[in-house]
Amino acid sequence: MEDHKKFRLLVKAIYRLLLSLFGLFAVMVFTLLFIMYNPDLFKKADLNVGEEKQYVAVTDEEDFDKIENGIHLRTGLVDAEGLMTVVNNCTNCHSAKLVTQNRMNKERWVSTIRWMQETQNLWDLGPNEEVIVNYLVTNYPPSKKGRREILKDIEWYVLK
Ligand code: HEC
Repeated sequence: MEDHKKFRLLVKAIYRLLLSLFGLFAVMVFTLLFIMYNPDLFKKADLNVGEEKQYVAVTDEEDFDKIENGIHLRTGLVDAEGLMTVVNNCTNCHSAKLVTQNRMNKERWVSTIRWMQETQNLWDLGPNEEVIVNYLVTNYPPSKKGRREILKDIEWYVLK
């Protein structure tokens, strides 16, 4: 081969190499930028709730804690004294539905809380416990009796 042809081949090879290096570089830059603008991309879903999560930060969105017809929309909990304490302590691990679909008296609410503390990593609620239990007993007490009262003082009459 002539020297001159060899040279052209060499130039071509170098050109291709540079082109692919540049392509690689562009892809890397693009990926980096993408990650930088999506900081949540690699955030782990943190289900292991520790004490530092006791107070959930309220976002700045206006509708976040909106209440409509006496219901806290985000959770479905009744709007009453202690609502936000319950929202902040009782909706981190499971849906608030688990709370609202249960109706219990004071002893059973307290023992449900103890059970979660002993087996599910629920934190010590401190002075909030009273607020929470009061809220629960007031708004989610045991359902009314399922059966009607026994009839008394009936005036029987004979069918004709
Ligand atoms: C640290 C996590 C955690 C927090 C915080 C938490 N719970 Fe629970 N809770 C659980 C787990 C886990 C279960 C079991 C869920 C299941 O069975 O699917 C549970 C179950 C329940 C149940 C159903 C119990 C049953 O007998 O089926 C109720 C009611 C309940 N929680 C109420 C509450 C209330 C009220 C609060 C706020 C004081 C609260 N939870 C906060 C973890 C938590």
